Order: sequence, then C-alpha cells, then structure tokens
Amino acid sequence: MTVPATHLLSFPDWMGSVQTRVEAALARSLPPGEAIPARLHQAMRYASLAGGKRVRPLLVFAAGELTEASTARLEVAASAVELIHSYSLVHDDLPCMDDDVLRRGRPTCHVEYDEATALLVGDSLQSLAFELLARDDFGDGRRQLEMIRVLARASGSCGMAGGQAIDLAAVGQQLNQPELELMHALKTGALMRAAVLLGGLCGKALDDAERESLDRFAKRAGLLFQVVDDILDCTASTATLGKTAGKDAAATKPTYVSVMGLERAREFAADLREQAVGALAVFGGGCRRLVELTDFITWRKF
Ligand code: IPE
Ligand code: IPE
Ligand code: MG
Ligand code: MG
Ligand code: MG
Repeated sequence: MTVPATHLLSFPDWMGSVQTRVEAALARSLPPGEAIPARLHQAMRYASLAGGKRVRPLLVFAAGELTEASTARLEVAASAVELIHSYSLVHDDLPCMDDDVLRRGRPTCHVEYDEATALLVGDSLQSLAFELLARDDFGDGRRQLEMIRVLARASGSCGMAGGQAIDLAAVGQQLNQPELELMHALKTGALMRAAVLLGGLCGKALDDAERESLDRFAKRAGLLFQVVDDILDCTASTATLGKTAGKDAAATKPTYVSVMGLERAREFAADLREQAVGALAVFGGGCRRLVELTDFITWRKF
C-alpha cells in the first residue's frame, strides 16, 4: 500500500494545505461579488473568506483520513460546515446578540455593511451550505441525505441555534456545570461534532464500535473547543484574538471561567483533551491528525 502524500507532512504543513484548499473551495462556491445582488454577494464573501482558523474543515479532513475519503468529497463537506459556522459568527456578532464590532481582525459584517445585509448574509450562507451538500456530482445520494441530516440537526434549534438561545437567556444568570455543558455542547460542540461525523461519512463505512468512538471523540473535542474559547476570552488580547477580548465578563455571560475559575477551567480543558484522545484508541495510528488537531485546539493562543 502506498502512503498518501499528506501523511508525510508535518502538522503545520498539513494544516496549511487544508486551509488553502478550503479557502479556494469556498471562493469557488460563493457567488462572485459582481453577481446581482452584488452587495449581498460581496458581504457573503467578506464574512466567509480571508480569515478564520478553519478548525471545522480541519476536523472534516482529519476524520476523513480515517475513512480514506476522497479530497473532492471532503472539500464539499468542509465547505458546507464552514459556511454554517461563518453564518453563525455573523449573527452572533449582531447588536441583538453579542454586539461585537471586530471579527477575524476586521470590522464585523454588520459594521462593514449593515444589519439587514448581515442578517441576509447568514440566511444565504446557510442555504448555500445545504446546496453544496446536495450537489449531483457527489456520487452517493444516500450518504448525502445522511450528511444533510447531520448538518441540519447540528445547526438548528437542537444544535447551534438552540445553544445560542440558551446563551442569550443566560446573560446575567449563574449556570451550574451541567447547564453550562449543555449550552456549550449545543452552541459550539454541535457543529464541531458534525464536522467530525461528516468527515467520517465521506469515505468507507465505519463499523458500529468505530462510529461510536468517533462520536465520543467529537463530543469531547467540541466541548473542549468552547472551554478554550472561554479561557482565551479572558486571557488573550484583542490583537491576538482578532475579536474583542473580555466580552464574556463585560456581558456577564456564564462561562467555564466564571463558573470554575481560570485554573480549574484549564485543568478541565486538559481532562477533556485526554478524554477526546482516549476515545480514539480503537483507531490506532490512523487517527494521527485528529490527535494533533486536538492538541492544537487545547493549546491554541487564538
Ligand atoms: C469562534 O469560533 C466561535 C466559537 C464557536 C467559539 P472559531 O474560534 O473557530 O472562529 P474562527 O473561524 O477561527 O474565526
Ligand atoms: C459563539 O460563542 C458560538 C457561535 C457563534 C455559535 P461566542 O459568542 O463565545 O463566540 P465568540 O467568542 O464571539 O467568537
Ligand atoms: Mg455568543
Ligand atoms: Mg460572541
Ligand atoms: Mg467566546
């Protein structure tokens, strides 16, 4: 068996290659900025291109390695989940939600354009995500249907949007740890989990034990991502984050830091990292990129 070329790359080089590939795929999938309605299309491109760590696409590609999925399919799945994520950020930043003016080092979409445009950008990015997953050159209609279901569930009221509703209702409230975990698992974890599952669905079928292990990994890694986001909000600078630091405390949002304190939140993140990586034991060496990515999520500086 020949070793795929991507296996020879260091983690930073692999990450860079996936980020470049996904950036190009998104640029091709989004309507051109000149197409009518030009202002909306320009705002969609503004919100989706140039910036972002592309962690969800990286999860799609890393999980896709387990199932020997084709790059073409992974690009479609990665683009779809990243479009939903970019839409969620545009809406998250609106004055009626977190009221943020800085995102990915630039003015937020509603500041650069206007609020109504930002609403429509979110709507349109969401629709485009599902249009991509329904492409007729994917080659496996049943898989596509399953992928659409996974992404739809992760995005809606039982996933990201539901988590955002809990987040807004929790302003100024104290949440206990199970309540906080549910909020984080939904608002952020659900899309990260979907990214892993979509990557898995792009290639050869996993057996039940493998599927269960991958899902356990995805849930822990998704929660870990938001715990680290909470920690960075109060430890990193605005310049490093490319978004306004200290927003959670300023908005009196319950977070892992406000509930546990910084040191225990850091320990909890390290525990979640162990649990996530532990869930991958069944895959042996085949899960190298998922482990590397979990470490990146745990120790990232932005
Ligand atoms: C920020 O997500 C919002 C959360 C869900 C915590 P990311 O930290 O992945 O944001 P980008 O895509 O890199 O800008
Ligand atoms: C964002 O959580 C979750 C979603 C966008 C769904 P935050 O509100 O903490 O994300 P940031 O910190 O603004 O990126
Ligand atoms: Mg928010
Ligand atoms: Mg926010
Ligand atoms: Mg945050």
